[in-house]
Amino acid sequence: MPRTLGPFALALALGVLGGCTPDAPVPSVSARLPAPAPLPGSSIPLRHGINVGNRLDAPTEGEWGSTLDETLFEAIAVAGFDHVRIPIRFNAHAAAAAPYAIDEAFFRRVDWAVDQVEHHRMTAIIDFHHYNELMEDPAAHADRFVGLWRQIAARYRGRGPTVYYELLNEPNGKLTAEAWNAILARALREVRAVDPGRKVIIDSYFWAAAKELATTLALPAGDANLIGSFHMYQPILFTHQGAPWMTPEFQTPGVLFPGPPPAPIAPLPAAQKVSWVAGWFRKYNTLPAAENPSGPTTIAEEFEYVRQFTAKTGLPVYLGEFGAIDKADPASRVAWTRMVRQEAEKRGIPWTYWDDAGSFKLYDPKARTWNADLMGALFQPR
Ligand code: GLC
Repeated sequence: MPRTLGPFALALALGVLGGCTPDAPVPSVSARLPAPAPLPGSSIPLRHGINVGNRLDAPTEGEWGSTLDETLFEAIAVAGFDHVRIPIRFNAHAAAAAPYAIDEAFFRRVDWAVDQVEHHRMTAIIDFHHYNELMEDPAAHADRFVGLWRQIAARYRGRGPTVYYELLNEPNGKLTAEAWNAILARALREVRAVDPGRKVIIDSYFWAAAKELATTLALPAGDANLIGSFHMYQPILFTHQGAPWMTPEFQTPGVLFPGPPPAPIAPLPAAQKVSWVAGWFRKYNTLPAAENPSGPTTIAEEFEYVRQFTAKTGLPVYLGEFGAIDKADPASRVAWTRMVRQEAEKRGIPWTYWDDAGSFKLYDPKARTWNADLMGALFQPR
């Protein structure tokens, strides 16, 4: 048997749970299998991961409705994931003035989360998430960002190779590609001064868009431990339909994957006012599946950009986030999730689902059960 599947995933693979069963209970951690080898075609020993979002990346942990606990890490390990991306808002727990000291109690909480992941023999990704002030005013925050990384790298440099860093989640706004390329090089110099061999993941501009990965991300040469990262939420009008943090043109419900829908749907007035959105819906309503923007062509386009990045840099690539909101039609969510995950795996790209218990939820922390259909989409062989 391959060593890549935990009992839940293994049961799905063998057809024991079928993939259409009600939510399945989480078995004991004693059944955990050893850590995986890289995916064929990849040089990094990550395969299947999950984001534990909305906890340490909230302004304070608990403010967005839940906190991390041991049962979650145990459930993740037992389900067959081999890595956990931990989004962390370091900027909300550090002094405003140099040397920008990170609060010790917060650092201890991060230590604990990393310990939990390692204890369960998974890889932990320390992901610096939601530094919004840096996106709004890069010049004012660049020194602080670099100073925060100086402390993070000093703290975790003694950890084993199953701890990775991710410099910054989803650069966007005024942190343009050009500004980001300059700042990431500075932050990386701080990391490398104390921790030369650590795996460091770097997102592209525009919310880790695959196109920007191929066209604008510039990484320092000669560092074989860098990993380019992109996020996959295309088509966004499907994956983010009705998301409360998105603007009104994203609020049209009932978008299916794949399109076209059985009967055309009318986008909301706010969506009709935005020309690219109105145009998208016209195509969604009319084009056959093979050309439909809510379909495989859109996904293939994203992966083509990723191929271009790899061809250009020779660096490994990582899909740090993908998921479809739980307001979407359940069968469409499953179809989209399966397609993205299969396309990633075909190319040797490790993936990390967003997220466990937020709006894209895969896991019910109260009942301690997984969404079995989505788990099938993530783990069943094609
Ligand atoms: C990004 C955001 C996160 C959001 C997710 C999906 O990671 O930081 O808050 O939930 O994308 O939109």
